[in-house]
Formats: sequence, structure tokens, C-alpha cells
Amino acid sequence: MNGNILEIDALRLAYRTRGTVAYAMNGATLHVAEGEAVGLVGESGSGKSTLARATLGLIPAKIARIESGRMAIGGQDVTRFTEDQWQAIRGNPVAMVFQDPLSYLNPVMRVGKQIAESVRLHEPRAILQSRVEELLWLVKLPAAAAEAYPHELSGGMRQRALLAVALGCKPKLLVADEPTTALDVTTQAEILALIRELRERLGMALLLISHDLGIVASACDRIYVMYAGHTVEWGKAADVFGRPAHPYTVGLLKAAQAARNAEGRFATIAGDPPNLAELSPGCPFTPRCPLARAECSAEMPPPGPARNAGAQEVRCWAHR
Ligand SMILES: Nc1ncnc2c1ncn2[C@@H]1O[C@H](COP(=O)(O)OP(=O)(O)OP(=O)(O)O)[C@@H](O)[C@H]1O
Ligand SMILES: [Mg+2]
Repeated sequence: MNGNILEIDALRLAYRTRGTVAYAMNGATLHVAEGEAVGLVGESGSGKSTLARATLGLIPAKIARIESGRMAIGGQDVTRFTEDQWQAIRGNPVAMVFQDPLSYLNPVMRVGKQIAESVRLHEPRAILQSRVEELLWLVKLPAAAAEAYPHELSGGMRQRALLAVALGCKPKLLVADEPTTALDVTTQAEILALIRELRERLGMALLLISHDLGIVASACDRIYVMYAGHTVEWGKAADVFGRPAHPYTVGLLKAAQAARNAEGRFATIAGDPPNLAELSPGCPFTPRCPLARAECSAEMPPPGPARNAGAQEVRCWAHR
């Protein structure tokens, strides 16, 4: 094992529904080292949630298929895992929290019971009662929350409950897909501070997806920028956000600055996002790119060091 808890290499995944096809991942590459906090950003529809769900084997097999590339978890190749194989590893080493905890918590089961179920699956010899109490304490919920049903809790408390269920699996990597987007600003800050504290306390790695570049910059060591199913730039947060190299990242940061008061959602960049049904061999940003040249529409460049920028990797012909 090389110290990476998650390795995604040139993964291509297509959804096929009623005659339409969408290449939601089209050669995405992303690595998370043990204990590392990694952020994933990109505009709506770029494939972030697809990537997150793939790390738990939660892509519905009926409509989606991994067409090429490779994914490994804890050094084990999971690219061709069956549902039975996924069930054996889901939750540990990788667990996930989502934007809408209510859809992932069981509405008719008390919170304490749901936490206990996740503990029982992953730690058969644990003393359930004391482990549930410990998990509630870790996520800063009162012990009485064990007796509550999910609908009786506030949005922030539900997210804490879902975190406790995830932590019950003792994950080495927590994938958090917009965990705070549905919450008010104060609660957002509390949940983020909690995730950070838990990471340090438990030595867990984190893959954090968010529309809020500020949140990602403050919580993560490294950042990946995703565009139309490709990861187009990655490196230390200070490099990617301080000296962006890919023209898409440059546009994204400008748009985010312009939209800072508008709830932190991305303002749009000039031009339309690409049609994910067309698998073009070139860089998907070409039609919107101020630096586009002939080779851009012919071939997607391999990753390489950014020129005149920080120490990040970038997939852009302007840097070759
Ligand atoms: N269940 C599905 N069936 C068919 N196509 C899907 C499905 N889920 C996602 N897609 C396609 O994959 C693309 C990527 O979706 P995904 O949810 O991964 O994007 P995202 O980056 O998470 O967006 P957002 O920021 O809005 O959450 C979408 O544009 C859509 O066309
Ligand atoms: Mg999403």
C-alpha cells in the first residue's frame, strides 16, 4: 500500500437512460492520502456527486457503467466490484455524509438505534450502549437525541446524527457531499468546525465537496477542480486558489468573487457548459476558453506541472 486511501485514475463513467447518455466522469483522476483533507469543486453538473457516490459503489448498475479507468480503495482495486462486494466494504474504510440527511436516515427508527446498527455491522464486539453514547458525544449531540426520530431534530442535528452513523463504521475516509449546503450560515460553520475537529481527533481523511470555495479553501490541504467529468487542475489549496493555472479555474474564482454576496453559489462563466452526451477527444472547456488553440479541440492534454504558477498539476495545452 502506497499511503493513498483513495485512488481514482482516468475513470470514465456513463449514465444511459432512455436513449440519452451522459459521460459524468470522463477521465477523472483524484487521489486522497491517508489522513489528508481534499476538496473537490466545480460547477453544477460537472460530476462531483457522481465521483463521490462511485467511491461507495452507489452508482446504480442499471443505468451507469464504468467504461474505463481504475479505482482503488486502501490499495484494493474496486473498479469491477459487484454489489455483494461493495456491501462488504461500504462504510469502512469509506463512509459518506450527504446534503440531505433526512433522505439517508431511516424515518421510522430512533437515532440511537441507527447509530447502533452501523456500529454492530463494523464492530461486532463493541459494547453498543457505550459506543452509541461516545458517538453522540463526538458529534456534540445530547445523549437524549438517541431516543429521537430524525424528523424531531433540526437540520443541523440531523447532519450530526448522520455523521454519527458514518463514524460508527470507523471510516478511514469520510466523503462529505455538500454537507452544509442545506443549513443556515451559523449551523454551516458549526458542522464544518465539527468535521475538522473529528478529522484531527480520529486521524480520518476527508473528501469535501462544496460550492463554497471559501469553505473548501479553509478546510482542505489539497483541491481538485472538476469540469465536465474531467479533473482539470489539482494541488495545494494555496496554489490552486492563489495562483490558478487552468483557464476554467481562473474563471471559476472570478465568478465566485463576483457572486460572493449571492449565497456563495457560482456565478456563471461566459458560454454554455458542454453537452455530456458528446464524447469529444479534446478539452471540453475549449468553446469557452480565452486561451483556446488548434490542439485543444483535438486532444485532451495529459496532466503536467503548471507553467508560471504554483506547484499544481494542470491539464491544459497552454501549460505544455
Ligand atoms: N441518476 C442519473 N441518471 C442520469 N444521469 C445522471 C444521473 N445523475 C447524474 N447524471 C448526469 O451526470 C451529470 C453529473 O451529475 P452530478 O450530480 O455528478 O454533478 P455535480 O457536479 O454533483 O452537480 P451539483 O453541483 O449540481 O451537485 C449530470 O449533468 C447529469 O447529466
Ligand atoms: Mg452534486
